[in-house]
Amino acid sequence: MNLVHTISEVRSQVKEWKKQGLTVGFVPTMGYLHEGHQSLIERAAKENDRVVVSVFVNPMQFGPTEDLASYPRDIERDCGICEKAGANLVFNPEPSEMYAPDFCTFADMTGLTDVLCGKSRPVHFRGVCTVVSKLFNIVAPDRAYFGEKDAQQLAVIRRMVRDLNFDIEIVGCPIIREDDGLAKSSRNTYLSEQERKAALILSRSLELGKTALQNGERDAEKIRQIICDSINTEPLSRIDYVEVSDLFTLERQDTIKSDVLVAIAVYIGKTRLIDNFTFNI
Ligand code: PAJ
Repeated sequence: MNLVHTISEVRSQVKEWKKQGLTVGFVPTMGYLHEGHQSLIERAAKENDRVVVSVFVNPMQFGPTEDLASYPRDIERDCGICEKAGANLVFNPEPSEMYAPDFCTFADMTGLTDVLCGKSRPVHFRGVCTVVSKLFNIVAPDRAYFGEKDAQQLAVIRRMVRDLNFDIEIVGCPIIREDDGLAKSSRNTYLSEQERKAALILSRSLELGKTALQNGERDAEKIRQIICDSINTEPLSRIDYVEVSDLFTLERQDTIKSDVLVAIAVYIGKTRLIDNFTFNI
Protein backbone atom coordinates (compact mmCIF):
# COMPACT_ATOMS: atom_id res chain seq x y z
CA MET A 1 0.00 0.00 0.00
CA ASN A 2 1.20 3.49 -0.88
CA LEU A 3 0.77 6.75 1.06
CA VAL A 4 0.84 9.89 -1.14
CA HIS A 5 0.28 13.57 -0.46
CA THR A 6 -0.11 15.15 -3.91
CA ILE A 7 -2.86 15.21 -6.51
CA SER A 8 -0.46 14.35 -9.32
CA GLU A 9 0.69 11.16 -7.56
CA VAL A 10 -2.93 9.98 -7.22
CA ARG A 11 -3.69 10.80 -10.85
CA SER A 12 -0.68 8.97 -12.27
CA GLN A 13 -1.34 5.85 -10.14
CA VAL A 14 -5.04 5.72 -11.08
CA LYS A 15 -4.20 6.31 -14.78
CA GLU A 16 -1.85 3.35 -14.69
CA TRP A 17 -4.51 1.13 -13.14
CA LYS A 18 -7.09 2.20 -15.68
CA LYS A 19 -4.67 1.47 -18.55
CA GLN A 20 -4.55 -2.08 -17.19
CA GLY A 21 -8.35 -2.22 -17.25
CA LEU A 22 -8.67 -2.33 -13.44
CA THR A 23 -11.70 -0.91 -11.60
CA VAL A 24 -11.19 1.64 -8.83
CA GLY A 25 -13.22 2.03 -5.62
CA PHE A 26 -12.91 5.16 -3.49
CA VAL A 27 -13.55 5.80 0.21
CA PRO A 28 -13.36 9.48 1.25
CA THR A 29 -12.68 10.01 4.98
CA MET A 30 -11.46 12.59 7.47
CA GLY A 31 -9.25 9.98 9.16
CA TYR A 32 -9.02 8.72 12.74
CA LEU A 33 -10.44 5.58 11.24
CA HIS A 34 -12.62 3.07 13.09
CA GLU A 35 -14.56 -0.07 12.17
CA GLY A 36 -17.19 2.06 10.36
CA HIS A 37 -14.59 3.37 7.88
CA GLN A 38 -13.00 -0.08 7.78
CA SER A 39 -16.27 -1.66 6.65
CA LEU A 40 -16.45 0.81 3.72
CA ILE A 41 -12.86 0.02 2.67
CA GLU A 42 -13.45 -3.74 2.93
CA ARG A 43 -16.61 -3.45 0.81
CA ALA A 44 -14.73 -1.36 -1.77
CA ALA A 45 -11.94 -3.96 -1.86
CA LYS A 46 -14.49 -6.71 -2.45
CA GLU A 47 -16.19 -4.90 -5.33
CA ASN A 48 -13.20 -3.27 -7.09
CA ASP A 49 -9.71 -4.28 -8.28
CA ARG A 50 -8.04 -1.31 -6.54
CA VAL A 51 -9.07 0.92 -3.61
CA VAL A 52 -8.14 4.54 -2.87
CA VAL A 53 -8.83 6.04 0.59
CA SER A 54 -8.54 9.77 1.17
CA VAL A 55 -7.70 11.06 4.66
CA PHE A 56 -8.33 14.80 4.74
CA VAL A 57 -9.81 16.91 7.54
CA ASN A 58 -11.57 19.32 5.20
CA PRO A 59 -11.50 22.84 6.72
CA MET A 60 -14.28 24.04 4.40
CA GLN A 61 -16.95 21.84 6.00
CA PHE A 62 -16.34 23.11 9.55
CA GLY A 63 -18.15 26.18 10.87
CA PRO A 64 -16.14 28.90 12.66
CA THR A 65 -17.07 27.58 16.14
CA GLU A 66 -16.72 23.89 15.28
CA ASP A 67 -13.97 21.37 16.11
CA LEU A 68 -11.57 21.73 13.12
CA ALA A 69 -8.49 22.32 15.32
CA SER A 70 -9.28 19.56 17.82
CA TYR A 71 -10.51 16.96 15.27
CA PRO A 72 -8.45 13.81 16.07
CA ARG A 73 -5.65 12.91 13.65
CA ASP A 74 -3.32 9.86 13.43
CA ILE A 75 -2.22 9.10 9.86
CA GLU A 76 0.14 6.27 10.86
CA ARG A 77 -2.60 4.35 12.63
CA ASP A 78 -5.00 5.14 9.75
CA CYS A 79 -2.55 3.66 7.23
CA GLY A 80 -2.39 0.42 9.24
CA ILE A 81 -6.19 0.14 9.19
CA CYS A 82 -6.35 0.97 5.46
CA GLU A 83 -3.76 -1.64 4.56
CA LYS A 84 -5.43 -4.37 6.64
CA ALA A 85 -8.83 -3.54 5.11
CA GLY A 86 -7.46 -3.90 1.56
CA ALA A 87 -6.67 -0.33 0.40
CA ASN A 88 -3.97 0.16 -2.24
CA LEU A 89 -3.46 3.91 -2.02
CA VAL A 90 -3.99 6.47 0.76
CA PHE A 91 -4.24 10.12 -0.30
CA ASN A 92 -3.42 12.48 2.60
CA PRO A 93 -3.08 16.00 1.19
CA GLU A 94 -2.20 19.18 3.05
CA PRO A 95 -4.98 21.81 2.95
CA SER A 96 -2.72 23.89 0.64
CA GLU A 97 -2.68 21.02 -1.89
CA MET A 98 -6.49 21.09 -2.02
CA TYR A 99 -7.17 24.82 -1.72
CA ALA A 100 -5.14 27.50 -3.51
CA PRO A 101 -5.05 30.81 -1.60
CA ASP A 102 -7.40 32.34 -4.22
CA PHE A 103 -9.76 29.33 -4.35
CA CYS A 104 -13.26 30.58 -5.21
CA THR A 105 -15.32 27.82 -6.89
CA PHE A 106 -17.87 25.84 -4.88
CA ALA A 107 -20.36 23.00 -5.30
CA ASP A 108 -23.48 24.13 -3.50
CA MET A 109 -26.99 22.70 -3.10
CA THR A 110 -30.39 23.98 -2.02
CA GLY A 111 -33.31 22.17 -0.36
CA LEU A 112 -31.74 18.92 0.74
CA THR A 113 -29.04 20.83 2.62
CA ASP A 114 -31.39 23.28 4.38
CA VAL A 115 -32.88 20.67 6.75
CA LEU A 116 -31.58 18.34 9.51
CA CYS A 117 -27.81 18.92 10.02
CA GLY A 118 -27.84 21.74 7.44
CA LYS A 119 -29.97 23.86 9.79
CA SER A 120 -27.45 23.96 12.61
CA ARG A 121 -24.39 23.62 10.32
CA PRO A 122 -25.10 26.20 7.57
CA VAL A 123 -21.73 25.95 5.72
CA HIS A 124 -21.22 22.23 6.23
CA PHE A 125 -22.71 20.70 3.08
CA ARG A 126 -21.23 23.32 0.77
CA GLY A 127 -17.85 22.22 2.13
CA VAL A 128 -18.72 18.53 1.77
CA CYS A 129 -20.04 18.90 -1.80
CA THR A 130 -17.03 20.98 -2.84
CA VAL A 131 -14.40 18.65 -1.40
CA VAL A 132 -16.16 15.48 -2.59
CA SER A 133 -16.44 16.96 -6.13
CA LYS A 134 -12.73 17.75 -6.06
CA LEU A 135 -11.85 14.28 -4.75
CA PHE A 136 -14.08 12.66 -7.40
CA ASN A 137 -12.23 14.66 -10.09
CA ILE A 138 -8.83 13.76 -8.62
CA VAL A 139 -9.45 10.03 -8.08
CA ALA A 140 -11.98 9.43 -10.91
CA PRO A 141 -13.21 6.19 -9.33
CA ASP A 142 -15.78 3.76 -10.74
CA ARG A 143 -17.52 3.52 -7.34
CA ALA A 144 -17.48 5.58 -4.16
CA TYR A 145 -18.52 4.32 -0.72
CA PHE A 146 -20.40 6.32 1.93
CA GLY A 147 -21.84 5.31 5.29
CA GLU A 148 -25.55 5.45 6.12
CA LYS A 149 -24.40 6.84 9.49
CA ASP A 150 -24.33 10.23 7.73
CA ALA A 151 -27.67 9.67 6.01
CA GLN A 152 -28.15 13.27 4.90
CA GLN A 153 -24.62 13.37 3.46
CA LEU A 154 -25.38 10.19 1.49
CA ALA A 155 -28.62 11.68 0.10
CA VAL A 156 -26.80 14.94 -0.76
CA ILE A 157 -23.96 13.13 -2.55
CA ARG A 158 -26.40 10.94 -4.51
CA ARG A 159 -28.27 14.07 -5.64
CA MET A 160 -25.07 15.93 -6.54
CA VAL A 161 -23.82 12.97 -8.59
CA ARG A 162 -27.13 12.87 -10.46
CA ASP A 163 -27.40 16.64 -10.95
CA LEU A 164 -23.78 17.19 -12.05
CA ASN A 165 -23.47 13.92 -14.02
CA PHE A 166 -20.52 12.40 -12.23
CA ASP A 167 -19.92 9.00 -13.83
CA ILE A 168 -19.53 7.32 -10.44
CA GLU A 169 -21.71 4.72 -8.71
CA ILE A 170 -22.50 5.73 -5.13
CA VAL A 171 -22.68 2.80 -2.70
CA GLY A 172 -24.35 3.27 0.71
CA CYS A 173 -23.08 1.05 3.54
CA PRO A 174 -24.79 0.12 6.86
CA ILE A 175 -24.04 1.81 10.19
CA ILE A 176 -21.41 0.01 12.28
CA ARG A 177 -22.05 0.18 16.04
CA GLU A 178 -20.27 -0.54 19.30
CA ASP A 179 -21.48 -3.69 21.11
CA ASP A 180 -23.79 -1.58 23.28
CA GLY A 181 -25.41 0.14 20.27
CA LEU A 182 -23.55 3.49 20.06
CA ALA A 183 -22.83 4.30 16.40
CA LYS A 184 -19.06 4.39 15.82
CA SER A 185 -17.73 7.88 15.23
CA SER A 186 -14.34 9.60 15.34
CA ARG A 187 -16.04 12.16 17.61
CA ASN A 188 -16.83 9.50 20.27
CA THR A 189 -13.24 10.10 21.47
CA TYR A 190 -14.41 13.48 22.84
CA LEU A 191 -16.75 11.78 25.36
CA SER A 192 -15.81 11.42 29.04
CA GLU A 193 -16.60 8.10 30.72
CA GLN A 194 -19.87 9.49 32.06
CA GLU A 195 -20.81 11.02 28.68
CA ARG A 196 -19.98 7.76 26.90
CA LYS A 197 -22.63 6.04 29.06
CA ALA A 198 -25.10 8.89 28.48
CA ALA A 199 -24.55 8.67 24.70
CA LEU A 200 -26.37 5.34 24.66
CA ILE A 201 -29.59 7.35 24.86
CA LEU A 202 -29.35 8.00 21.09
CA SER A 203 -29.54 4.40 19.88
CA ARG A 204 -31.93 3.40 22.69
CA SER A 205 -34.38 6.18 21.84
CA LEU A 206 -34.23 5.34 18.12
CA GLU A 207 -35.02 1.72 19.01
CA LEU A 208 -38.21 2.89 20.77
CA GLY A 209 -39.21 4.83 17.65
CA LYS A 210 -38.48 1.83 15.45
CA THR A 211 -40.58 -0.46 17.65
CA ALA A 212 -43.52 1.96 17.45
CA LEU A 213 -43.21 2.00 13.63
CA GLN A 214 -43.01 -1.78 13.53
CA ASN A 215 -46.16 -1.92 15.67
CA GLY A 216 -47.98 0.12 13.03
CA GLU A 217 -47.71 3.73 14.29
CA ARG A 218 -47.86 6.01 11.21
CA ASP A 219 -48.21 9.43 12.88
CA ALA A 220 -44.75 11.00 12.49
CA GLU A 221 -45.37 13.46 15.33
CA LYS A 222 -46.02 10.55 17.73
CA ILE A 223 -42.78 8.87 16.64
CA ARG A 224 -40.88 12.15 17.15
CA GLN A 225 -42.48 12.53 20.60
CA ILE A 226 -41.56 9.00 21.71
CA ILE A 227 -37.93 9.62 20.73
CA CYS A 228 -37.75 13.13 22.26
CA ASP A 229 -39.31 11.98 25.56
CA SER A 230 -36.77 9.18 25.81
CA ILE A 231 -33.77 11.42 25.01
CA ASN A 232 -34.96 13.99 27.56
CA THR A 233 -34.71 11.40 30.36
CA GLU A 234 -30.90 11.72 30.02
CA PRO A 235 -29.73 14.83 31.93
CA LEU A 236 -26.47 15.20 29.92
CA SER A 237 -28.35 15.34 26.60
CA ARG A 238 -29.64 18.29 24.62
CA ILE A 239 -31.66 17.70 21.42
CA ASP A 240 -30.57 19.49 18.22
CA TYR A 241 -33.22 17.76 16.08
CA VAL A 242 -35.43 14.68 15.90
CA GLU A 243 -36.96 14.31 12.44
CA VAL A 244 -38.99 11.84 10.41
CA SER A 245 -38.19 12.61 6.77
CA ASP A 246 -38.72 11.19 3.31
CA LEU A 247 -35.69 8.97 2.65
CA PHE A 248 -34.82 10.65 -0.68
CA THR A 249 -36.14 14.24 -0.56
CA LEU A 250 -35.52 14.61 3.22
CA GLU A 251 -38.83 16.48 3.45
CA ARG A 252 -40.47 16.38 6.89
CA GLN A 253 -43.31 13.84 7.07
CA ASP A 254 -46.60 14.13 8.96
CA THR A 255 -48.09 10.78 8.05
CA ILE A 256 -45.73 7.96 7.16
CA LYS A 257 -46.70 6.64 3.74
CA SER A 258 -43.34 6.03 2.08
CA ASP A 259 -39.84 4.91 3.12
CA VAL A 260 -38.62 7.24 5.86
CA LEU A 261 -35.40 8.31 7.50
CA VAL A 262 -35.69 8.80 11.26
CA ALA A 263 -32.68 10.97 12.10
CA ILE A 264 -31.50 12.63 15.30
CA ALA A 265 -28.71 14.98 16.39
CA VAL A 266 -28.09 15.26 20.13
CA TYR A 267 -25.47 17.06 22.17
CA ILE A 268 -23.97 14.95 24.95
CA GLY A 269 -22.18 17.61 26.94
CA LYS A 270 -20.38 19.62 24.25
CA THR A 271 -20.18 16.76 21.73
CA ARG A 272 -22.76 16.67 18.95
CA LEU A 273 -23.64 13.11 17.94
CA ILE A 274 -25.89 11.90 15.12
CA ASP A 275 -27.68 8.62 14.53
CA ASN A 276 -30.57 7.34 12.40
CA PHE A 277 -32.45 4.40 11.00
CA THR A 278 -34.46 3.93 7.84
CA PHE A 279 -37.89 2.31 7.83
CA ASN A 280 -39.20 0.74 4.65
CA ILE A 281 -42.96 0.61 4.28
P1 PAJ B 1 -15.87 10.85 8.03
O1 PAJ B 1 -16.71 11.38 9.13
O2 PAJ B 1 -14.46 10.47 8.32
O3 PAJ B 1 -16.62 9.61 7.43
C1 PAJ B 1 -16.14 8.96 6.28
C2 PAJ B 1 -17.16 7.94 5.83
O4 PAJ B 1 -17.31 6.94 6.85
C3 PAJ B 1 -18.56 8.57 5.63
O5 PAJ B 1 -19.14 8.05 4.44
C4 PAJ B 1 -19.30 8.11 6.86
O6 PAJ B 1 -20.71 8.01 6.67
C5 PAJ B 1 -18.68 6.76 7.12
N1 PAJ B 1 -18.90 6.33 8.51
C6 PAJ B 1 -18.57 7.02 9.64
N2 PAJ B 1 -18.98 6.34 10.74
C7 PAJ B 1 -19.60 5.22 10.30
C8 PAJ B 1 -20.24 4.11 10.94
N3 PAJ B 1 -20.34 4.03 12.26
N4 PAJ B 1 -20.75 3.13 10.16
C9 PAJ B 1 -20.67 3.21 8.80
N5 PAJ B 1 -20.06 4.22 8.15
C10 PAJ B 1 -19.54 5.21 8.86
O7 PAJ B 1 -18.00 11.91 6.23
C11 PAJ B 1 -16.90 12.44 6.18
O8 PAJ B 1 -15.80 11.94 6.83
C12 PAJ B 1 -16.63 13.69 5.34
O9 PAJ B 1 -17.76 14.51 5.34
C13 PAJ B 1 -16.17 13.38 3.89
C14 PAJ B 1 -17.24 12.63 3.10
C15 PAJ B 1 -14.86 12.57 3.91
C16 PAJ B 1 -15.89 14.73 3.16
O10 PAJ B 1 -14.93 15.46 3.80
